[in-house]
Amino acid sequence: MKRSIVTGGAGFIGSALVRGLLRSGHCVETIDNFATGKRENLDEISDQVKVHTADIRRYHEIAPILAGADRVFHLAAIPSVPKSILDPVPSHEANVDGTFNVLRAAAQGGVGRVVYAASSSAYGDTEVLPKVETMLPRPKSPYAVQKLLGEYYASVFASCFGLETVSLRFFNVFGPRQDPTSVYSGVLSIFLTCLLERRKPTIYGDGEQSRDFTFVEDVVNLLLKASEAPNVSGKVYNAGNGNRYTLNETWALLQAIEGVDLPAKYAPERPGDVRDSQADVAGAVRDLGHEPQYSFEQGLRLTLEWYRLDQAKRGASIA
Ligand SMILES: NC(=O)c1ccc[n+]([C@@H]2O[C@H](COP(=O)([O-])OP(=O)(O)OC[C@H]3O[C@@H](n4cnc5c(N)ncnc54)[C@H](O)[C@@H]3O)[C@@H](O)[C@H]2O)c1
Repeated sequence: MKRSIVTGGAGFIGSALVRGLLRSGHCVETIDNFATGKRENLDEISDQVKVHTADIRRYHEIAPILAGADRVFHLAAIPSVPKSILDPVPSHEANVDGTFNVLRAAAQGGVGRVVYAASSSAYGDTEVLPKVETMLPRPKSPYAVQKLLGEYYASVFASCFGLETVSLRFFNVFGPRQDPTSVYSGVLSIFLTCLLERRKPTIYGDGEQSRDFTFVEDVVNLLLKASEAPNVSGKVYNAGNGNRYTLNETWALLQAIEGVDLPAKYAPERPGDVRDSQADVAGAVRDLGHEPQYSFEQGLRLTLEWYRLDQAKRGASIA
């Protein structure tokens, strides 16, 4: 049985990956300091997972856990553009120093392969869409720089230290368990919560900015594939869906699904936000067997139903 470790395993994508690994018969451990992740994300599988409370900023805390693992999925991060502008030191420490520690501990501990959660924010604003891995990165925020540095380190650990690594540039991932409660949350989790609570969301900018929204289960499948594919060490792949929707289109679609009329409010554009985002997924299809299964609308409907049930559960536990 493969021993797989997920850093950030209590987070939104990490906890979905843990479930995917368990389904595939892996023996799973997680490393998390619960900065943004939640224990409840692992609640109903807690008896099948070894949960380590540890901080990737502390090499000596994580090195003994990572030693000898077959696969490490490195997802732990402070994943927010606005937070990295408002308060850049904590995100630098987690996203850069923490990533370096994970790679160093993996190399020293003889880990079979590290799959790194990189970010499409590394591209910044490109003149051409879709965005291809060969384009020159133009990060627009500390977060984007930090995630790009992680990729560079992953590639260099492959070439200089013989550690197998693969980086996947996630685009806008959405799905169950994405935390909607912070102003730093992903736009879809905020839209879905507003929809269920019949509130008008605030859109920063004119709403014509576009995103390649990717359903979390498609990302989980690609992470699993990237952990096994041959001849990909040191490489970087787009992990998007290949489509793009503007925020205005997305909010209109959600209102139509729910049968409500709640015109959005608009506020000034936020610094660091990329204008348009769409992945060219040819590389991931060719080398990793990427095959997204969920249309945007299917993913939205599944996520909406999860949020609806979650809100009902929370309501019941308060009552
Ligand atoms: N959600 C997206 O759309 C998206 C897009 C691009 C890249 N990513 C990347 O995917 C990964 C997962 O993102 P997510 O959306 O699930 O976010 P998340 O906040 O839900 O998960 C991040 C996890 O990392 C943990 N963490 C943070 N600092 C830590 C530390 N110092 N030590 C140990 N654990 C720590 C948090 O507690 C949390 O559980 C991140 O690396 C993020 O940069 C996400």
